[in-house]
Amino acid sequence: MLKFEIKDRDASGRICKMTTAHGSVITPNLMPVINPNKILISPKEMRSLFGTQIVITNSYIIFKDKELHKKALDNGVHKLIDFDGPIMTDSGTFQSYMYGEIDLDPLQIVEFQRDIGSDIGTILDIFGKPDQTKKQAEKGLIETLNRAKKSVKLKNDMNLACPVQGSVYPDLRTKCAIALGKIDSDFYPIGGVVPLMENQRYMDLVSCIIASKKGLPPNRPVHLFGAGHPLIFPLAVALGCDFFDSSAYAKYAEDERMIFPTSTKKLDKLSELPCCCPVCSKFTAEELKNLDKNERKLHLAKHNLYVTFTELKNIRTAINEGTLWELVEKKARANPYLLESLNYLRKIEQKKWLEKFEPTSKNRALFYTGSHTLHRPIVYRNQQKILERFNLLNDSVIVMPEGKKPYSTFYADELKKIWKINNEIPIIVDSHLGPVPLELDEMYPFAQCVFPEIIDNESLKNTKDIFWQYTKNKNVIFWQGSKTLKELKKTSQKTIKNIDLKRIEAVIKMQFGIDAANALYDENLKIVKSRKTGKIRNVYSKEKHILSMRANDGMFTLKKDGATILHRQLKRPKLRVLIKDDAVPFVSEGKSVFAKFVIDCDSELRPFDECLIVDKNDKLLAVGRTLLNHIEMKTFEYGVAVKTREHFI
Ligand code: GUN
Ligand code: ZN
Repeated sequence: MLKFEIKDRDASGRICKMTTAHGSVITPNLMPVINPNKILISPKEMRSLFGTQIVITNSYIIFKDKELHKKALDNGVHKLIDFDGPIMTDSGTFQSYMYGEIDLDPLQIVEFQRDIGSDIGTILDIFGKPDQTKKQAEKGLIETLNRAKKSVKLKNDMNLACPVQGSVYPDLRTKCAIALGKIDSDFYPIGGVVPLMENQRYMDLVSCIIASKKGLPPNRPVHLFGAGHPLIFPLAVALGCDFFDSSAYAKYAEDERMIFPTSTKKLDKLSELPCCCPVCSKFTAEELKNLDKNERKLHLAKHNLYVTFTELKNIRTAINEGTLWELVEKKARANPYLLESLNYLRKIEQKKWLEKFEPTSKNRALFYTGSHTLHRPIVYRNQQKILERFNLLNDSVIVMPEGKKPYSTFYADELKKIWKINNEIPIIVDSHLGPVPLELDEMYPFAQCVFPEIIDNESLKNTKDIFWQYTKNKNVIFWQGSKTLKELKKTSQKTIKNIDLKRIEAVIKMQFGIDAANALYDENLKIVKSRKTGKIRNVYSKEKHILSMRANDGMFTLKKDGATILHRQLKRPKLRVLIKDDAVPFVSEGKSVFAKFVIDCDSELRPFDECLIVDKNDKLLAVGRTLLNHIEMKTFEYGVAVKTREHFI
């Protein structure tokens, strides 16, 4: 069984550790394609030059060649290509797509892969071409499923990859993914996408990836079959792809073409090499052009792999920083078709799916890169929460224009004047992210976002639409200085509520829901502020420390006493992660919750949410922060589901 666990995440992408009998691999990662007939750069050399952790080779080529066939059976595929790390093998499907029918028994090739010791073998699936009718695609898909079902029985200790097919029909892709998810497969490539990538049909590619991912079990590695150009890596990773494979490095080198992060360039068109990899540092363009053909090919292949592996490092770094969407949008600006494909993610249906995997908070500020930014899942989620949880009860609402953050500091003078007359009237900021209740002005992403002075009309319209939806049927008072104050005098209303208390109530509502705010909030809460920043640090209720506010994202960490109150007041399964008896002694000591011990959890939990860890009898054991969302918690067999922070014994 392939061990696969999430270590970190951003967007719907993830950094995972996959462990095979030949060692582990950090994903997202790339498997260079090794042609056993002509090894251009050996896998060992790849490991030392580019940090290659896993390679893919073709079992069909080995099977068909008498000598290779015997060697592989006698000594194993690892000896054959001289690599002791994980090796994946493909089956011959791509050859049949390229060259027509091949003479190969679909089960024999699975047995062969098993017998040569492949770490991950692949079934002989039917390549679903993009120009197929739905009927044809369905027929191929049924055959692929049949073969998958028969193949899993033969795999023994080998991990088996079953590609999702279904041509360009999203419903077929999802159907295929669901059916494959139910059989004992270990690894899921998304197949049949090479022609989409060759023709830059990125919108179709995105639709295929999402439709496949929607049906696949989230606890398995997903491979985008045949994707070797780094241009599309960030988007594919953001949608949940974990692996790529590249024969592009060698094929392009053969054609004297060089891969760059967002493009491909012909060597003979270059007067200078726009790269600092060891190859491009050693040679000038002229020198490279004048090399012997084979030597040039080798150097170009190396350059191609340097660039490709660097891109994967960039992506993993972006996940770690929480800037993967920024990277996706930046890359998309380099190619009109890729840019266009982002429009697919604007559909509500896709946003709803992406939102489930999107972390609650990030380490870095949200950077605006253009109109697509406002369609990011994090923006959608927070807008929806404001619409649902911040019903404007008052008839009137004061609207401040977008300003410096945090808004309550920027508008301190104005607010003083308003509150002197009426401190009950809701105040919202007409921000670039949509209407933001003033009380949320220190919370991620409202305070932690960066926009240029002038933003594009499409974004403005988007923001306005939500603004009017939120303030529908209200008396909207746009701040106009003394004129507004005069008008306010008619509505005079004063209470003792202060901005700090309002902020506490509002952030609880956003993070934990309205019921949680009712349970935790009262007007006698005691607040301890940071002496340095003046910001809320700790919140006490009847001398008990219930919440701490994080300085970096203005959100709460739940303390034991706060958790006790929420646990008492909120019905199951709200905020809960329910764990098996076996794990109770460990979690009660403060150890983290491993996914395999989770029985169930609140379906509203998202990655990096605060949660209550309980046993079968709903006894509160500990408080923690989720790493997985609810769907993942119930499916992952390995890795941490919740990082425990405080425990009760
Ligand atoms: N290589 C590229 N695409 C595919 C595919 O759809 N199936 C298999 N098995 N290999 C591929
Ligand atoms: Zn280079």
